[in-house]
Amino acid sequence: MSSSAAPPSSVPLLLAIESSCDETAAAVIARDLTVRSTVVASQDELHERFGGVVPEIASRAHLERLLPVLDEAVQRAGIRLNQLSAIAVATEPGLVGSLLVGLTAAKTLAAVLDIPLIAINHIEAHLYACRMTAGEDVFPAAGMVVSGGHTSLFDCPEPTGYQLVGSTIDDAAGEAFDKVARILGLSYPGGPSIQRAAEGGDPAAFGFPRTFLQEDRLRFSFSGLKTAVLYAVQGIPGSHREVPPLTPQRVADVAASFEQAVVDVLMGKCRQLLRQYNRRTLLVGGGVAANRRLREALDQLATETGTRVILAPPSLCTDNAAMAGIAWEQYDRGQFAPLDTDVTPGLVRLESLRGR
Ligand code: KG4
Ligand code: ZN
Repeated sequence: MSSSAAPPSSVPLLLAIESSCDETAAAVIARDLTVRSTVVASQDELHERFGGVVPEIASRAHLERLLPVLDEAVQRAGIRLNQLSAIAVATEPGLVGSLLVGLTAAKTLAAVLDIPLIAINHIEAHLYACRMTAGEDVFPAAGMVVSGGHTSLFDCPEPTGYQLVGSTIDDAAGEAFDKVARILGLSYPGGPSIQRAAEGGDPAAFGFPRTFLQEDRLRFSFSGLKTAVLYAVQGIPGSHREVPPLTPQRVADVAASFEQAVVDVLMGKCRQLLRQYNRRTLLVGGGVAANRRLREALDQLATETGTRVILAPPSLCTDNAAMAGIAWEQYDRGQFAPLDTDVTPGLVRLESLRGR
């Protein structure tokens, strides 16, 4: 990285750092929300054999990758560090060790360059990716984030400070994709491999559960669905009924039926969310929002109800730093983070959603 003299930039620029889970990412984002560069170093190959993210491996890999990723983002943007007006970093929610690597780098840059540090919420950034995609103000809106760590519903009256109004009580939707892929012997991460496998499958072949779909409360549960898939594939423990062999067609049918069950539940809750909060715009972000079947269902919702559905492109759905444009909103509001800022690993959970 170079910080020697550089021509002044006409548009203010910030450098964003994302290391909340298993992607090491950096982006240079201009005040007008154009993304000057975006670099994502995935750790998928490190976690694949475990079928999920191993926190210690993730934080160690961030340590190795962050500086090269930052260098590349700055170089690709064709700028020097002294042209930056702020450093943005995701400080919540996420894996504690992973978040700390990004935050430490961000604090160091902010201190050395003597520019403000902006602490952003990773989940809010997932939703703000939709505003960046739309290219104009999209608030007030309702929002859904479906990722490997979260399945959450938000009311978003303004560009920052979204209100969490619903979430999963157990697994996240992406986590269910990853676990079901493992059951089916498909590769990690499970979302893309299930989507591929499901292409030749029958979404009605298995009647998997749609938990909570019929109830009014904004909450999800995917652990029963995952177990139903396990039993369909391996048989019910203690039962002597034989299950058919797992042929490629059966894998495709299970994948398609599972995907359809997840999509049905997500769509049902989106409809309830829009109704309950009387919103006509829906923002959808997070890795699972890259799913083709879900995107088609959201298109259909838009056509049927006249809701403006805004989906980020798939590259902005999975973890990245370019979605950190929300930092400019915070910049405008003077919401800067002190240099003793800490990470907040957990998303505030809606305890009231648990049990009955
Ligand atoms: O947002 P993300 O990159 O990381 C978290 O913040 O968790 O989401 C990763 C999750 C993984 O569980 C992955 O399987 C899922 O998003 N995913 C998908 C697709 N692409 C990624 N799920 C369904 N369909 C996809 N095409
Ligand atoms: Zn994410």
